Amino acid sequence: MTQTTSKKQHLKVVIIGGGSSYTPELIEGIINRHQQLPINEVHLVDVTAGRDKLYIIEALAKRMIERSGLNIEVKATLNRREAIEGADFIMTQFRVGGLYARANDEKIPLKYGVIGQETTGAGGFAKALRTIPVILDICKDIEELAPDAWMLNFTNPAGLVTEAILKYSSVKTIGLCNVPVSMQMMIAEMMACTPEQLSLECAGLNHLLWAHKVWLEGKDITSTVLEKVGDGANFSMKNIFEEPWNPDFLQSLGAIPCPYHRYFYQTDAMLAEEKQAAESEGTRAEQVMKTEAELFELYKDVQLDEKPKLLEERGGAYYSDASLNLVDALYNNLNTINVVNVRNNGAIPALPNDAVIECSAVIGSWGAKPLAFGSFSPAITGLITQVKAYEQLAVEAAVHGDYDKGLMALTCNPLVQDINKAKNILDEILKVNYDYLPQFYSKKVAQDVPT
Ligand code: G6P
Repeated sequence: MTQTTSKKQHLKVVIIGGGSSYTPELIEGIINRHQQLPINEVHLVDVTAGRDKLYIIEALAKRMIERSGLNIEVKATLNRREAIEGADFIMTQFRVGGLYARANDEKIPLKYGVIGQETTGAGGFAKALRTIPVILDICKDIEELAPDAWMLNFTNPAGLVTEAILKYSSVKTIGLCNVPVSMQMMIAEMMACTPEQLSLECAGLNHLLWAHKVWLEGKDITSTVLEKVGDGANFSMKNIFEEPWNPDFLQSLGAIPCPYHRYFYQTDAMLAEEKQAAESEGTRAEQVMKTEAELFELYKDVQLDEKPKLLEERGGAYYSDASLNLVDALYNNLNTINVVNVRNNGAIPALPNDAVIECSAVIGSWGAKPLAFGSFSPAITGLITQVKAYEQLAVEAAVHGDYDKGLMALTCNPLVQDINKAKNILDEILKVNYDYLPQFYSKKVAQDVPT
């Protein structure tokens, strides 16, 4: 019997934040998977302020495609609606306020003696306030112009942003991060096996993800991996200081923490390192500004037709694998297990059903269904429920411009907690980000916070 397929043979992909220095990663991923993914149109969208970078990326992407010999049209535009119309996959990877806003997110908390990081703690909170209204606006365009499209959200803080989309729009979205695939790669390296030989049972929140079990061809190797991480095996990302783990702590935790857990479990050491770095080479954003400038100099070179090695200095390793594997699983109905950000729906019973969690999920053309994880140890349950409480409050603060929810969010965040620090940080975030927070400035806070 001949099988009929309703799969489209012409896929339109839109990258919002197309002028990002990471875009060549995605282009490489699209080229590498051309046999299973008939992507023939890639639209790169950015805002006017990012125009120069956008056109540099467009030219490089065209050279990369030309070198591959594939027939893929690349088009850069400042017209988001035109690009979104009729799209099949929309990837979002933008940064409202650019790296300057990120530098503020990192510096303001440090002034008050708390972790300054772009996705966790008070820095991630500030980024969420700027980002969520913009992404919900993009969602309105998608609802109208491409209601069947899948939106893959990389925009940080990815878990919070995905939760806002799922709560406040009807867009089909899945949140993504490169941390899970990076963890798998690093475990493969320490076990001297291939990543394909490993299965990881991952569950938690974005940038608060544990691998609860690791299997090597059916054998539970969780304890061995914990031992190797405790012995100092490489287990971090380029953007996170590799503070060594205490081996006894890891064994009693019984699950492999992601690199970002250092901010929660080794707060004092990470804070000391951040302060020292801020005074010497600058915060991570300030360091990244220099790498970005060098990258764009390379990208301008008309001889360059591949992703340069320098891009590996950024934290986004394996980012194209994470996103294009997901597109592959959705389009080809693979029913494979990928780690994604999805609605909990009972997978972690300690969290609300409508909370977004990051976890191993089965991916097919119908979307992502999380595996059921059951209960965790009190140590893990305690942290995850507290961080989720912060995230829920932060989403509400960002959507409604609600000062009180914002204050409560920061007070619930384990990296802030103290109410005086929370208030001072919140007031400064609102003041410094005045241009990006219209949801707050038509409300009560306009009277409270001098600009
Ligand atoms: C990690 C995170 C990403 C983040 C990136 C930042 O990979 O998972 O969410 O965007 O680091 O890297 P950067 O080079 O900008 O500090």
